[in-house]
Amino acid sequence: MSETDFGVPIPGKVLPPEAWARTAIKRLPPPGPLDFAELFGRTAPVVLDLGCGNGRFMITSAVARPECDHLGVDILPLVIRYATKRANQRGLANVRLAVIGGQELLADYIPPHSVAEIHIYHPQPYHDRADHHRRLVTPEFLALVHRSLAPTGFAVFQTDNRAYAHYFRQVAPSLFELSEVKGPWPDAPRGRTRREIYARKRGLAVFRTIARPKPNLTHDEIAGLVQSLPRPDFTTRE
Ligand SMILES: C[S@@+](CC[C@H](N)C(=O)[O-])C[C@H]1O[C@@H](n2cnc3c(N)ncnc32)[C@H](O)[C@@H]1O
Repeated sequence: MSETDFGVPIPGKVLPPEAWARTAIKRLPPPGPLDFAELFGRTAPVVLDLGCGNGRFMITSAVARPECDHLGVDILPLVIRYATKRANQRGLANVRLAVIGGQELLADYIPPHSVAEIHIYHPQPYHDRADHHRRLVTPEFLALVHRSLAPTGFAVFQTDNRAYAHYFRQVAPSLFELSEVKGPWPDAPRGRTRREIYARKRGLAVFRTIARPKPNLTHDEIAGLVQSLPRPDFTTRE
């Protein structure tokens, strides 16, 4: 396992084995609201990364912000194994990692208005029409992000796929106030994630958006939006 992504080092220091952490959630409990205080052994702001891949953002953020707890998920067991090993070896007690889909995590486990940040970096665009139904961002998913965030919380959506960025900017403003981030993140000038580093090395444009939940939307209004907003059936050129 390389300690770099395309030549960019993974932050944090590999500690001697006696200082390693245990960050894997090997078996999730049956669906129901997660007790974050029990999961992390303390009460702290919770940061989620949905589709965390090899965990680069989780690890960087957990090293830089020991005062926050981090839960990263992905559907691929292999990448969660990489992320877990890295977080364990760095002794990051403020990280947990699990194999589960992002939508399923929010729908089945995240208590309403309980998390400070939800990060979504480079979700797969699924170019083939037969796979469009696998796209993570849908009106239902955005409603779950809105439900999961604390009123002062925010989500980050980032992609190097122009059509996905366009779709997000089309649907998300019904539920969120959006602000675009121009240029690289100051906390990770070479890229917050493996895919961002790769995309920038290839000269691809990266679209970064911060989404803050609109207050005072009723349950019925959100249910109406979920019915009326367009589905993610956009075509990509790649
Ligand atoms: C292009 S990679 C990006 C990984 C990482 N966020 C990055 O920017 O480097 C997309 C990741 O999303 C994961 N993924 C795909 N569908 C998912 C879903 N429904 N829920 C959670 N993760 C998913 C994939 O396994 C893959 O690791």
